Amino acid sequence: MKRILSCMQPTNRLQLGNYLGALRNWVALQDEGQDENGSANECLYGVVDLHAITVPHNREALANSTRETAAAYIAAGVDPDRSYIFAQSAVPAHAQLAWLFTATTPMGWLDRMTQFKEKAGKNKERASAGLYSYPILMAADILVYKATHVPVGDDQKQHLELARDIASSFNEKFNGGEEFFPQPEPVITGAATRVMSLRDGTQKMSKSAESDMTRINLTDDADTISKKIKKAKTDAGVVPSNDKECEGRPEVANLIGIYAALSDQTKEQVMAEFGGQQFGVFKPALADLAVEKLSPITNRMNELMADPAEIDAILRAGADKANELAQPTVDETMKLMGFWS
Ligand code: AMP
Ligand code: TRP
Repeated sequence: MKRILSCMQPTNRLQLGNYLGALRNWVALQDEGQDENGSANECLYGVVDLHAITVPHNREALANSTRETAAAYIAAGVDPDRSYIFAQSAVPAHAQLAWLFTATTPMGWLDRMTQFKEKAGKNKERASAGLYSYPILMAADILVYKATHVPVGDDQKQHLELARDIASSFNEKFNGGEEFFPQPEPVITGAATRVMSLRDGTQKMSKSAESDMTRINLTDDADTISKKIKKAKTDAGVVPSNDKECEGRPEVANLIGIYAALSDQTKEQVMAEFGGQQFGVFKPALADLAVEKLSPITNRMNELMADPAEIDAILRAGADKANELAQPTVDETMKLMGFWS
């Protein structure tokens, strides 16, 4: 049996990249091998609120953002009857294991992490110690469940490699080279594993980018989605017919990738259909497709958010199960490290 684990931060609103790069694959893995006995895979999906406080956060908004992120998971197709949805802060084992790893991970491994450099920018001295050690907490999120598969977007590849290194180093140092923590496999699939900004094809689409016009939020209404796509940056050329015609046109290639992912086609199929046409034809088609695929999610999210008590009940049940699975791992880890117990 595969054990699937993945998480998102409850910061701002979820955007199209979160959906196409990660969330859609979470649902696919949940549904894989499904039969009358239930899901073939055991799936755990966390809302990582302890990660969210590594940058200045709004205390009034945190709990509700956690609910909203859980609602987005459910609206996108994660079924709380088959998968466990929980808040990271409700499962103390994550932070406990993170400390055991922090104390034993070389600084040099963290120095290599490019996301910290991007996020801290020029203000490295002011960035929190938590932002720096963030990938260790992420490794703990994964290893505390001995997860075998981790569906994420392309930007998390390096963090997954660190989690694998931490697992092997622990096995080597504290378990005589035998496997205690398995090697988690990244699952990075689909036509849009890295969705780029609608305004600058060299920047990742992100929920924290300043301008809202760079991204499509899962909470945007149909008019907003259409407006953002119609205003997305392209060029004076026509829609490309092959990869070669995408070269040097990152914004155009990005829109093709989004269309392909939303319509479950390859980029080649999309270019075969639209190649040679004007963007004035392609963009409205993309806008219609995006609205058709995203508005059911938006509507369902709004319905769910109208009943926060129901979401809280789901999060509580998920945390009970997550605690049951995670705490024994910390207990055993401490024993292997030689703690008094
Ligand atoms: P975050 O918003 O940083 O918590 O990311 C949650 C998940 O969404 C991770 O698996 C990311 O890899 C994925 N993700 C975030 N932004 C993008 C993007 N622009 N394209 C593809 N995947 C993304
Ligand atoms: N670091 C991930 C991101 O920013 C979120 C995350 C935290 C995560 N813990 C995780 C993803 C564990 C997968 C597994 O996108």
